[in-house]
Amino acid sequence: MKRFQIAVIGCGMISKSHFKAIAQLPNAQVAAVAEILPDRAKETGERLGCPWYTDAEELLKNQPQVDVCLLCLPTYLHSKYIALCASYGKAVLCEKPFTMTVAQAQAAVDAVARAKVPYMTAQVVRFWTGYREIKQMLDAGELGELYLAYFSRCSERQVWDNTWLYDPENGGGAMYDMMVHDVDYMNYLFGPAKSVYTLASKDDTHCYNNVFANITYESGVKAVAETAFNMHTGFPFSMYAKVMGARAAVELTYCAGYDINQRDGALAQLKIYREGQAPEIRDLEQYDPYAAEIAYFLQCIEEGRAPQVVTIDQSLDVIRTVNAIRQSADTGTVVEICR
Ligand SMILES: NC(=O)c1ccc[n+]([C@@H]2O[C@H](COP(=O)([O-])OP(=O)(O)OC[C@H]3O[C@@H](n4cnc5c(N)ncnc54)[C@H](O)[C@@H]3O)[C@@H](O)[C@H]2O)c1
Repeated sequence: MKRFQIAVIGCGMISKSHFKAIAQLPNAQVAAVAEILPDRAKETGERLGCPWYTDAEELLKNQPQVDVCLLCLPTYLHSKYIALCASYGKAVLCEKPFTMTVAQAQAAVDAVARAKVPYMTAQVVRFWTGYREIKQMLDAGELGELYLAYFSRCSERQVWDNTWLYDPENGGGAMYDMMVHDVDYMNYLFGPAKSVYTLASKDDTHCYNNVFANITYESGVKAVAETAFNMHTGFPFSMYAKVMGARAAVELTYCAGYDINQRDGALAQLKIYREGQAPEIRDLEQYDPYAAEIAYFLQCIEEGRAPQVVTIDQSLDVIRTVNAIRQSADTGTVVEICR
């Protein structure tokens, strides 16, 4: 069995979920890490027993055995580092959001195409318990034709040394960091978005950290996505999905801890409602969605096929949609999505 050599670039908050996930995979190991903060780079490398660098390109030059670069960098750096890693011939798994702007997304798409390397945006919700089941139910025809949906993702302000996250152009606050999960997942279920109308307010960070996006899909589905980074102390990191179809409506509730790394003891429930029947509570399989996501990407590489669960074109379209949500908030008008 091939053991994939993974270089993790950026060793902040979400890298912890990925290190834990990689440790569960028999066919993967962390080959090296790169982190710009020297103390964090050293501490992480020593803890994992692997070489560490403060510069990603040094890692790429010195660790030619690396198969996959896993980018856990601030969002505004994604496009640049996707291009860098692709130019070294590495497969790239990059944290969401794909990029901040459509121009950055297009540059990343072009770089991946030029280098002909496998690429996937780490849209973990597509692999998440409950969300995965909703997609399976839809594909199996259990929900029937869809017409309405509501998604929510709210938490306390996520604060550590991540000032980039609350810079409107570098992290974009909740509208980019949180809502992108649901925008991506809704595109997965409903296809491309047609137009958006946003109700949102900025807070002291100048980011849209309280957002309601009303989205009309080309398929006819109408959806509302809510996100907030301003819940009061003690409000758990919460996700919610309600999808209504002609045959059944499905409701998913998920509550973690302060942040998404705190999933031990998370509360998860999937309920299905059908006309004239008692609601069904479906048992949800408990597994690590980050491990499932990485395992899927490695399997695609091993089998020589491009990832189909999340494609790079879908990732580009998600950034188009999030940008339209922002434009609608800025202008107070309905924004059509241009492709
Ligand atoms: N999938 C999820 O559930 C999830 C959850 C949280 C964050 N994210 C995404 O993951 C990405 C990282 O978020 P985070 O919360 O871990 O941020 P973070 O700020 O905690 O970590 C980023 C790390 O990258 C390092 N870094 C910055 N510039 C660098 C460079 N040029 N080279 C090497 N290292 C560099 C920083 O020092 C920091 O340690 C973001 O895009 C975010 O949206 C995803």
